[in-house]
Amino acid sequence: MRHFLTLRDFTPQELQEMIDLAIKIKRQVKAGEYVPYLKNQTLAMIFEKSSTRTRVSFETGIYQLGGTGLFLSSRDIQLGRGEPLSDTARVLSRMVDMVMIRTFEQSRLEEFARYSGVPVINGLTDSYHPVQLMADYLTMLEFGKTDPVVAYVGDGNNMAHSWLYMAAIMGFELRVATPKGYECDAEIVREAERLAEKYGGKLILGYDPVGAVRDADVVTTDTWVSMGQEEEKEQRLRDFAGFMVDSTLISHAKPDALFLHCLPAYRGYEVSEEVFEAHADEIFTEAENRLHAQKGIMVWLDSHRNDENPE
Ligand code: CP
Ligand code: NVA
Repeated sequence: MRHFLTLRDFTPQELQEMIDLAIKIKRQVKAGEYVPYLKNQTLAMIFEKSSTRTRVSFETGIYQLGGTGLFLSSRDIQLGRGEPLSDTARVLSRMVDMVMIRTFEQSRLEEFARYSGVPVINGLTDSYHPVQLMADYLTMLEFGKTDPVVAYVGDGNNMAHSWLYMAAIMGFELRVATPKGYECDAEIVREAERLAEKYGGKLILGYDPVGAVRDADVVTTDTWVSMGQEEEKEQRLRDFAGFMVDSTLISHAKPDALFLHCLPAYRGYEVSEEVFEAHADEIFTEAENRLHAQKGIMVWLDSHRNDENPE
């Protein structure tokens, strides 16, 4: 059985298989054909943090695949009152067919997966947001960016880390520009560099937004204040001055560059209103693609239930 905890657990071929499934299922749904790939299956969705897109896309996705989704807020289930993760995992495994979790430390997700008898999907942790990157990759393909140079400007956070793995594994160039003190996690960077060497990605990390964006095909960013960092907000807003993706910064990218944002977006901080609205088409296609990409992931995991877990 395979879990979907980080992108680094997959080969380029495997990620491409999931993307191909997503493309196929998206095409079918657009033609009005709802194929029940996961008929009668139940997906439990545990949320220890807020969500709009992740909740709606997984819940709608499993429904459209012929199954049903259970929204479980940690505020309502016994997990929030101290029931061990290991027990929650073993109970849910006896009742549902797949679990998605949005939580804090990656180690919590890993612990859950260790005890789970059904595939577990990472719906965002402090370290990674791999399902978002699958949607972002699909969006780049749909907009014709098949061998892109991508510039990520902003916080060295879960989104930046997942971009690093995606670029490393799928073999494209990623430039990351963060303020000093907000760099990506050093261990994750080392792992991403190892993968890039293996699979042909190119990773360039620095502090200069203009240098990162120059002639890029895709520019992307994320909030400066992630969930759980609310107390650092004032300090962060000061430290990220100069890192807003505005018209001046994006003018250094290729004229037809895409701008992607996982959302929610905070205009006037990581992105200007003008850039956001000029790129609304790709941003909301990216949001929609959460639905399609995650169906690809769920169907793929379902068809690999009897696989050995690789190292
Ligand atoms: N991009 C994303 O994961 O959005 P939500 O926090 O609304 O799920
Ligand atoms: N980095 C953000 C992403 C939200 C989808 C956070 O973790 O809050």
